[in-house]
Amino acid sequence: MNFQQLGNTCVVGLQWGDEGKGKIVDVLTEHFDVVVRYAGGANAGHTVRIGDQKFALHLVPSGILRPNVTCVIAAGVVLDPETLVREIDGLTARGVPVQEKLRISDRAHLVMPYHKKQDSLSEAALDSGRKLGTTSRGIGPCYADKMQRSMAFRVGDLLEADAFRQKLREVTAVKNRLFAALYDDKQPLDPDEIADTYLGFAARCAPSVTDTTHLLHQAAAEGKRLLFEGAQGTLLDIDHGTFPFVTSSNCSATGVAAGAGVPARTVHSYVGVIKAYCTRVGSGPFPTEQQNDIGRYIRERGQEFGTTTGRPRRCGWFDAFAARYSVMLGGITEVALMHLDTLAGLSEVNVCTGYRYRGRVLDYFTPNVRVLNEVEPVYETLPGWQATAVSWDSCEQLPAAARRYVERLEALIGAPITLVSVGADRAATLHRPGGLPRA
Ligand code: IMP
Repeated sequence: MNFQQLGNTCVVGLQWGDEGKGKIVDVLTEHFDVVVRYAGGANAGHTVRIGDQKFALHLVPSGILRPNVTCVIAAGVVLDPETLVREIDGLTARGVPVQEKLRISDRAHLVMPYHKKQDSLSEAALDSGRKLGTTSRGIGPCYADKMQRSMAFRVGDLLEADAFRQKLREVTAVKNRLFAALYDDKQPLDPDEIADTYLGFAARCAPSVTDTTHLLHQAAAEGKRLLFEGAQGTLLDIDHGTFPFVTSSNCSATGVAAGAGVPARTVHSYVGVIKAYCTRVGSGPFPTEQQNDIGRYIRERGQEFGTTTGRPRRCGWFDAFAARYSVMLGGITEVALMHLDTLAGLSEVNVCTGYRYRGRVLDYFTPNVRVLNEVEPVYETLPGWQATAVSWDSCEQLPAAARRYVERLEALIGAPITLVSVGADRAATLHRPGGLPRA
């Protein structure tokens, strides 16, 4: 990956989230001036490791660990101030200065306590087949209020204390009636308690609140380099993912312009992040899932447990058919392949090259769950490779079978793999300048 030639860049997950975007953003931020979160909220969990230090970030952009980088939470994000303040305090306690580097959009919507409550209540009320397996972070209910408009709160509303308090009384009265009627809930929310807490958060965050759309346009005009950090993954996109088993935002690359408030042409490069196998948390179709020793092997070696919820992730073979769709949707210009080391030790590895549906092989991937629930993956089997005690310092040092695996994935997904990650550390990142030449 030639960092100098990337220009303004969007980093986006190509699977169902948890691809390792945090590490790539962290590797890239050295070459950027501004890092921007444009969608999602505290449902995201990005783990960044430096030496033996591990940072789990949910809202603060991963760039915060670098000096001289401005971190922006843009208008498309739904912001839970409780999580944000906890994260700011945690980072500050570990010597990472946050406040002077963080800028929060006054237009980002606020996740309120009743959104989190509704997330849990509505999931609990559903039959098991219909549960989405959300992160319970209030993401869906918050975006629903945003679209419904009259009951929504934005970050800027926190700066008008009296009006905030008054509107909150009206909104909680409605929510309390709603929860009692729909879910037989007997614990009404106290608006003044919520207002006190949220206005307390506001006092902490107010210096960072600004018009980030203006900030980003100004930064671009000054020739500053912008990095847009995607959350979740393309297959969880509200419009283009495996609906309804998705999150509530345009978390794919398609969401950058709307979420950040910049023209689409602002972004010059789209870096897709993908794991050498697939994982999924929560419900929904997963054609290559391995509910067997292979799945358990990947989970243990890859430490596939949720950063946000701690849930064990569902694991399976690499799905090149789905990945090709994500590459196409996002206009992906190059790919970072993560966790190649995790697959070491298997005698053979399978790659899904297509789906068989009702007797015929599909021409192209569809995120339609009714189809996905019926498909049978078509696999290509490749030789595996052994784990070695020595760490790999370059792609040339990778075992031949691992190199062939990377080359095969690259050909199948239709984008050059220019970076390969073989460990959690920043240093375990191999560059592959000889990635497939772009068509
Ligand atoms: P929500 O975003 O909490 O509403 O959850 C909706 C679906 O997206 C669930 O299946 C979650 O497990 C999944 N999801 C949300 N955020 C992430 C993430 O950061 N990584 C992986 N899956 C996620």
